Amino acid sequence: MIPEEKVREVAERLSIVEVVSDYVSLRRAGGNFLGLCPFHAEKTPSFNVNPAREIFHCFGCGAGGNAFSFVMKIESVSFPEAVKLLARKAGVEIEERQLTPSEKKSQEEYAQFQRINELTASYYRSILLSGQEGDQARHYLANRSVEADISEAYRLGFAPDRRDGLVKHLKNNGVELDYALKLGIVRKSDSGWYDLFRNRLIFPIKDARGQVIAFAGRVLDASLPKYINSPESPLYHKSSVLFGLDMALPSIRTGSSIIIVEGYFDHLALYRAGIRNVVATCGTALTGTHAGLIKRHAERVYTLFDGDSAGKKATIRSMELFLEQRIPAYVISMPAGDDPDSFLAEHSSEDFSVLRDTARPAFEYFVRSLLAATPPDSVDSKVRIIDDIVPRFRKIADSVERDLYEKEICRLLGITVHAFRKRMGGGSLSQQEARKNQSNDAQPSDNVQDTMLALLLNYPDARTEILRVGLETIFTDDYLELAQLVLDALAGPESNQTLSQIADILVKQEHRTLFSRILVSDGQMADIEWRTVLDQCARSHEKKKLGSIKDIAARLAVLDANSAEYGELLKQADSLRTRKSKL
Ligand code: UTP
Ligand code: MN
Repeated sequence: MIPEEKVREVAERLSIVEVVSDYVSLRRAGGNFLGLCPFHAEKTPSFNVNPAREIFHCFGCGAGGNAFSFVMKIESVSFPEAVKLLARKAGVEIEERQLTPSEKKSQEEYAQFQRINELTASYYRSILLSGQEGDQARHYLANRSVEADISEAYRLGFAPDRRDGLVKHLKNNGVELDYALKLGIVRKSDSGWYDLFRNRLIFPIKDARGQVIAFAGRVLDASLPKYINSPESPLYHKSSVLFGLDMALPSIRTGSSIIIVEGYFDHLALYRAGIRNVVATCGTALTGTHAGLIKRHAERVYTLFDGDSAGKKATIRSMELFLEQRIPAYVISMPAGDDPDSFLAEHSSEDFSVLRDTARPAFEYFVRSLLAATPPDSVDSKVRIIDDIVPRFRKIADSVERDLYEKEICRLLGITVHAFRKRMGGGSLSQQEARKNQSNDAQPSDNVQDTMLALLLNYPDARTEILRVGLETIFTDDYLELAQLVLDALAGPESNQTLSQIADILVKQEHRTLFSRILVSDGQMADIEWRTVLDQCARSHEKKKLGSIKDIAARLAVLDANSAEYGELLKQADSLRTRKSKL
């Protein structure tokens, strides 16, 4: 752990402009510095750095934060790593703080887990490499053309057909088996300890740094289950691990793209062919966490799933995740019946490059496969297709892309844009979506709440006043959560921290975006009469809330006039009307 004062010292010694300038060429524009955003592709600069605030914000992609957040994002490192990097730049020496007893305990436990995984991987590896027990596995690998260098790169191993081979090996090395039990690689029964993996080829599963965190074992014949994986453990959360990421990172960095495959052997086949920017999920469907991890490392993602119906489903599901996270996604299609292993057994890696270069955007792939399954030859089938498309279409975050697809879908279906939008609901996009499309910013902005939040950040007196009125009456959703977090931080034991430091405690992307946006654009807040602004805001906010009278009327129209809810709503509407007339 790095002591808090050190973090502060580093922050004080470096200006954010100095830090960012190592990566982005900046020019002054008013109170801010402006440059091309390093986190998304753009031709006109929307990346702002505010030296007074020590904050950056990109109006194009919503990235924002302080100098530490910037380094974390651009170097793909954790907070402590970013602090250490900047400490070196600032010439601050960092001595890590003494651990608390519970931190110490979990660190020791962690070291035990790592030692056990290392012992286990070497044990399986040694069985595979020599001795009669590994014979069959060596034949198997030879049959699948897995040479020694590839076997070594993956640290492949073999679990012998013994009840307690690993158990004994761990015991001989002085391991407390209860730790190994927590990793799920050994088990306990009435008749004693026994191994999870028996008679299986072993793929160690490693984290991004190459540390072994779990294992997968494949049978050598056609028996079932084909694979078993070690269970979830303190080290291994399968929904957030991408198999092979450690091996893929160097090539992901140079090419900025990732290929996702389904299987360990798919990964191996591509790696063997020299295609290195590849990761696989570990026997689970792709999750939002996976997608987030991919976004952290790459600008573009390709899915390369089997051509069967399960693979198609997985492709479409992953497309939804990528649309949500705004990661450009493409689908590589294999000839029917092939998987990467069989394809590369027959073709060269250049042939594979051709497949990759002709990959289709995921959404287009989705629409086309929908049309192939249900030809749009009747009104009925068109309606069905549109209803399948609409929920996914809504997830396309980029407005230009949406426009293009809207036209394309309508052309393919032979319907008008008007008809499509009508089916989308209400003839046009919802207000919030329309706003989202106008600015490219991920966060829909709300002028009144923006101003109020800026007041809250800038004027301690306004803060008190806002608290008196009640946060909930002014802020909603992300604004409300953010206001609360900021107030807590300003009131807490670290209450003398600067606004820029608060960026470090914001976990949610939406909060960070909102926070940095307001801080880089609140230059005009410097010399204002905060009370006047607060009053104006309060009034316009109240008016907006009263707009809800219309909503109440709509609900009343469909309720039974004798119901309790009807009476309640009527009362609400009346009191709203009286308040509105007073404004
Ligand atoms: P595959 O059956 O396609 O396996 O399952 P594969 O890795 O391509 O192996 P080969 O080429 O057939 O030998 C794809 C992935 O699904 C998970 C594994 O992660 C596997 O790599 N899986 C499959 C399981 O977790 N359990 C199973 O029983 C089968
Ligand atoms: Mn496969």
